[in-house]
Amino acid sequence: MLLTETINGKALISLFDSDSPNQRLFPLTATVNDCGHLVIGGCDVVELVRQYGTPLYILDEYTLTVAARQYREAFQKYYPGESQVIYASKAWCCQAIVSILAREKLGFDVVSGGELYTTVKALELAGYNLEDIKSKIYFHGNNKSPGELEFALDTGCKIIVDNWWELETLAQLTAKRQQDATILLRLTPGIECHTHEYIRTGSLDSKFGFHLGELEAVYTFVKEQKYLKAIGLHAHIGSQIFQLQPHQDLAHILAQWYQKALDHGLCLREVNVGGGLGIRYTPADNPPSIPQWVQAVSTSVASAFKARGLSLPKLIAEPGRSIVATACVTAYTVGAKKIIPGVRTYIAVDGGMSDNPRPITYQSLYQMVIANKMNQGHTETVTVAGKHCESGDILLKDISLPPTNPGDILVVLATGAYNYSMASNYNRIGRPAAVLVHEGESNLIIRRETYEDLIQQDLLPTRLTNHSLGNFNS
Ligand code: LLP
Repeated sequence: MLLTETINGKALISLFDSDSPNQRLFPLTATVNDCGHLVIGGCDVVELVRQYGTPLYILDEYTLTVAARQYREAFQKYYPGESQVIYASKAWCCQAIVSILAREKLGFDVVSGGELYTTVKALELAGYNLEDIKSKIYFHGNNKSPGELEFALDTGCKIIVDNWWELETLAQLTAKRQQDATILLRLTPGIECHTHEYIRTGSLDSKFGFHLGELEAVYTFVKEQKYLKAIGLHAHIGSQIFQLQPHQDLAHILAQWYQKALDHGLCLREVNVGGGLGIRYTPADNPPSIPQWVQAVSTSVASAFKARGLSLPKLIAEPGRSIVATACVTAYTVGAKKIIPGVRTYIAVDGGMSDNPRPITYQSLYQMVIANKMNQGHTETVTVAGKHCESGDILLKDISLPPTNPGDILVVLATGAYNYSMASNYNRIGRPAAVLVHEGESNLIIRRETYEDLIQQDLLPTRLTNHSLGNFNS
């Protein structure tokens, strides 16, 4: 049975009129079985929880694949030149995701030595030849260390240069190594967009990228460096954006500065417009679909370049959230319930801010269901608390759910982006396991951290170990 239940009085089926994953609340494969259980990727969530425990990230391979394909196919359809979609790994970087997205011919945006290392290892493990893919890996970051830059040079990936210090360091490193570096220059376009202040990156007052006033000096500097080969410009305006206009405005700014770079004698051929397309976390959210976003970006880049008489650059986009968010849900077990008459009813789950720091960081809202009570009405209003020693560890305030009992499976939807990747061990709670589901099969892709894992990095200096004769109480 397809999901036809209601959430907060809204028919889910009416929210299912799009096949663009970022416009859906549930993964594309979500259904309800005869037991009234949520099923994802052909797997009964209640069974998955029995097998793997909670909290559990459940990643639907089909939804992830569809999002990647929609991006790629839409660029082929709407952009008259060459294009490449690269996945912003910061959304969730792990070997299984790298492997699935490489299969879908996506490249990778990495922002640290750790993300680069994970990506390279995953590609090797999955049987890809790094030589074929390295030019599709782009190394980002506003403070890459010299060690990270050397790692990038060793790998042969492209480097998106963010600032003067990095430019100068890279010029020295490449001269010392007598090795070319293929670079893009990140600029701050000065575009405002309506999203949370912390995830806005394109405005003038941003720590990322060169501001437009210094770009011509950057061009002159790069032109003089023997080993720095600038091939493109990059800009990213922010994340969880629902409007198309900021990206359309960006196209004109990029075309203008691309032309100036050509005038300075740089041989540019790529333009990277960043990521940023929002997703539907709750029924109130209305993002454009993936194809709509791609169409808007493609046509505005093509017309901005044509208007200046420039030949079309290779167009790169680097979405993260809209590729992976909707593909994943997090399952928790409900435990304690605290009723404060006339005030609020809390139900607590066995995870919270350590596996999903977004509510406490950005006041993000989510949709939730009870996986073992999908056919029951949402008649109780509760506040869902995490288990961490922090009053702000609330996953969601005042949500209507079916009446819950300890042992029920609470599922938070659309947790694929910036949940696992921002997870911590706060309160020495191990990070959850992640399981990949597809056509009724489930595979563990990240194992649950054990107590032993938690102390693995701890070291006890010898002088602190000699307490065998000491009496704790004296
Ligand atoms: N490219 C660059 C240079 C970025 O900084 C980002 C995200 C992306 C691409 C991918 O953007 P997306 O398509 O995912 O919107 N932790 C925050 C989001 C931080 C976004 C950081 N940059 C959150 O949980 O909402």
